[in-house]
Amino acid sequence: MTMIRRHSAPAVFMHWCNACCWLLLTFTGFALLANPEMQPVGRWWSDLWHELFGGLGLLRLHIFAGLFWLAAYIVYILARCKADVLPFLREILAVRPAADLRWCGLKALWLTIGPRGMRRLGLSGELPPQGFYNAGQRLVALIAVVCGVMLALTGLVLLFLSGASASASALRWCLLLHFCSAGVMAVLIPVHIYMAALAPGEGPALRSMLTGMVPLAHAREHNPLWARRLEAEERRS
Ligand code: HEM
Repeated sequence: MTMIRRHSAPAVFMHWCNACCWLLLTFTGFALLANPEMQPVGRWWSDLWHELFGGLGLLRLHIFAGLFWLAAYIVYILARCKADVLPFLREILAVRPAADLRWCGLKALWLTIGPRGMRRLGLSGELPPQGFYNAGQRLVALIAVVCGVMLALTGLVLLFLSGASASASALRWCLLLHFCSAGVMAVLIPVHIYMAALAPGEGPALRSMLTGMVPLAHAREHNPLWARRLEAEERRS
């Protein structure tokens, strides 16, 4: 089976470092919510974490995970800017609103009623060919980048300016933006985990996030525009 490189080793390492940090930050962040009415899974969640670490310990753990995540990202961005970060941003910023929305709509139908149901509606049952990422992945990645920047900035303001120069209303706005960004990501992360790793046919994608390599046949089926570009480059060289 011909294998091709999909992710560099540093990108794979950063992905799992990112995943661990985000999961810990989401779990501890929700446990820190002061209002029990706002606990998405019930009060027991907050009680469990407070029991394990105490109120102050939980806050310290959340801050430590946030600073660790930010420091790891700064090192990664500086070290891998040209090799990984800029190509990633170029891919996810290649937005084509009409074609991307059409792909997302067709994918929703494909997941719910399936190709046979789509053909009954007069559609072909096929999804438009995609590049390195599909339109759904690009949309989620773009939202993750915006929310990540927002979480980091508001988190730093809350950590370093609370009780100092910032006004109480500015801090309340920061806290609201911090909550909203975390809330959006708390919804999108399970969607990402299912679509990228657990959905039928995604086994090779999950393995590519461990080895960096993906079978050429899988790329031809899931990312035909990317596979065609690679094959054309191969022929030219
Ligand atoms: C247990 C948790 C997670 C699993 C199982 C998982 C799984 C995966 C898989 C299989 C891919 C490869 C998709 C492909 O090659 O087409 C991927 C890519 C990606 N994931 Fe995750 N993921 C997890 C958590 C996260 C979290 C929390 C984030 C942060 C928002 C995230 C952001 C990304 C990004 C940005 C990519 C593209 C990376 C690249 O191409 O280098 N993932 N993930």
